[in-house]
Amino acid sequence: MCGIVGFTGRREASPILLEGLRRLEYRGYDSAGLVTSTGSQLHLRKKAGRLSELGKVVSAHPAPGCHGISHTRWATHGGATDNNSHPHLNETNDIALVHNGVIENFAALKHQLQTSGVQFRSDTDTEVLAHLISHYYHGDLVTAVRQALALVKGTYGIAVIAKAEPGVIVGARLGSPLVVGVGADGTYLASDANALAGFAEKVVYLTDRQICVLSETDWEVRDQDLSPVSVSVSDIKNFLGDGDAEKGAFPHFMLKEIYEQPETLANAMRGRLEADNATAHFGGLNLGAQQLRQIDRVVMTACGTSYHAALVGEYLFEEFARVPVEVEYASELRYRNPPMDRNTVVLALTQSGETADTLAALRESKRMGHTTLAICNAVGSSIAREADGGVYLHAGPEIGVASTKAFTSQVAVLAMLALYLGRTRHLSSTQGQRIIAELQALPGVIRKTLECHDQVKLVAQKYAGAKNVLYLGRQYLYPVALEGALKLKEISYIHAEGYPAAEMKHGPIALVDENTPSVFLVPRGNVFDKVMSNMQEIKARGGPVIAIASAGDHEVSAVADDVIEIPDVPEYLQPIVTAIPLQLLAYEIALLCGCDVDKPRNLAKSVTVE
Ligand code: F6R
Repeated sequence: MCGIVGFTGRREASPILLEGLRRLEYRGYDSAGLVTSTGSQLHLRKKAGRLSELGKVVSAHPAPGCHGISHTRWATHGGATDNNSHPHLNETNDIALVHNGVIENFAALKHQLQTSGVQFRSDTDTEVLAHLISHYYHGDLVTAVRQALALVKGTYGIAVIAKAEPGVIVGARLGSPLVVGVGADGTYLASDANALAGFAEKVVYLTDRQICVLSETDWEVRDQDLSPVSVSVSDIKNFLGDGDAEKGAFPHFMLKEIYEQPETLANAMRGRLEADNATAHFGGLNLGAQQLRQIDRVVMTACGTSYHAALVGEYLFEEFARVPVEVEYASELRYRNPPMDRNTVVLALTQSGETADTLAALRESKRMGHTTLAICNAVGSSIAREADGGVYLHAGPEIGVASTKAFTSQVAVLAMLALYLGRTRHLSSTQGQRIIAELQALPGVIRKTLECHDQVKLVAQKYAGAKNVLYLGRQYLYPVALEGALKLKEISYIHAEGYPAAEMKHGPIALVDENTPSVFLVPRGNVFDKVMSNMQEIKARGGPVIAIASAGDHEVSAVADDVIEIPDVPEYLQPIVTAIPLQLLAYEIALLCGCDVDKPRNLAKSVTVE
């Protein structure tokens, strides 16, 4: 959500800033802007709309200078207009600032500034910071930033420059990620290390309340009192693989990421399955066997798609490890005060590792003394660094705003964790061996599953005009019904609801008519007959039925209007396999509806505001 890129060095800044923003555009695409400095002047260019609009402005009116900051915006306060775009400048146009996060007390600060005569140019919360810094500025930018931030309540990741301090960028973070990059041509600042791959060789992650000062050849990190702090420097080459941030032959990142799933699942499992001991192991879990055995409850917390993966985890942990699990939206958990005893472990699931609510829930759990773990994709992200231990997905960057490969990798990691926990308890070695063999077969199964794409296209053509769609599944497939509905609504803007298939009798069935299709998740398994009965109930009311079913299942094809076939797998792996046709269905319908699949309206990747 919003992206920041800054550069100071020995090359023209604007091409670096634009390239960095291009890689972060999926984080916010309401507007984009940059400001460069030539010492005597700040050159501001900003524009509402996609980054390409800013590109046109910069082509027509180049922004010279080897020193600048930039921003791609997901609007929080104030609409998507040129004026509300970042950077924001002070009244005399000699201090410029970009900001991620929310200044919660901006109204009071704005009122005070206006009372003292300051004229505002935008409706944003951010602009107050530009004026506050200006108020405290007497030739020392870092001191002015520190004084201004002392008045602020809320969250921020900021980058600030001043005309009178050529080559200097000041950054600060509280709740919004910020990373310093060190390269041969200069120093960088960004909200995500991915923006710096290929430019910087080393990165330094700021932690909350740290302030950094960058010059062309140097950088330092200070605490909130401006005392220097020592930090660890990491190698950026760990973060992005070659071509990871490119679409390659695929028309959209979402499709590329759907098709990557055989590899991303293999990556999630690589080196973690131990056939000899019939278990899994994880380098970064930081829990000994004794501690593992003592866990008597797991609270899983997450948002959106990651929350749906956690719901699958509940079934997995209960089946394999017999450990009670509670799954809670992070935005709810952070403000609850649930009784949790010493042996409760809190497990946060997050693709980005930066989701504000998940981070806050994790911190609150730590504060209460619980061991916290994270299942995370983004290496070095805030949640990955703050959890006591965790497991990386190794799925590579997920650029499409609709999460796909992260979901299936999260479920695979949860299955391995359930196996690991189970093997410290009652799960036999024979059961462990069987699970390992089934997991190892999964990448091949997913390759086969992707062959349903042509069937999915036909189904999409038939139902793309629907206004409402129901997604129904039971047990392991109830969370997938929720996920399928979320995928469809977020990228095609068609209203969709996921329900446990039997629950629809208790209300949602009133929605069923000949124009409201129901997508049934009905591969063979324990509750197959029950789901078939639920399907009949929909058919009896004239509702069209699309079934995601085991290949060659005549019982299903005799009832359903359309069938999308998937390979048979054990029930606990069905969430991964059934997710594939639902991702493809949402993708194909969104294309037919003319929607921007990778950048759906109102959404942003990585929700770093509350
Ligand atoms: C939906 C989607 C979101 C995210 C949610 C949590 O396709 O991507 O619902 O799953 O914002 O994000 P992470 O997993 O980064 O914490």
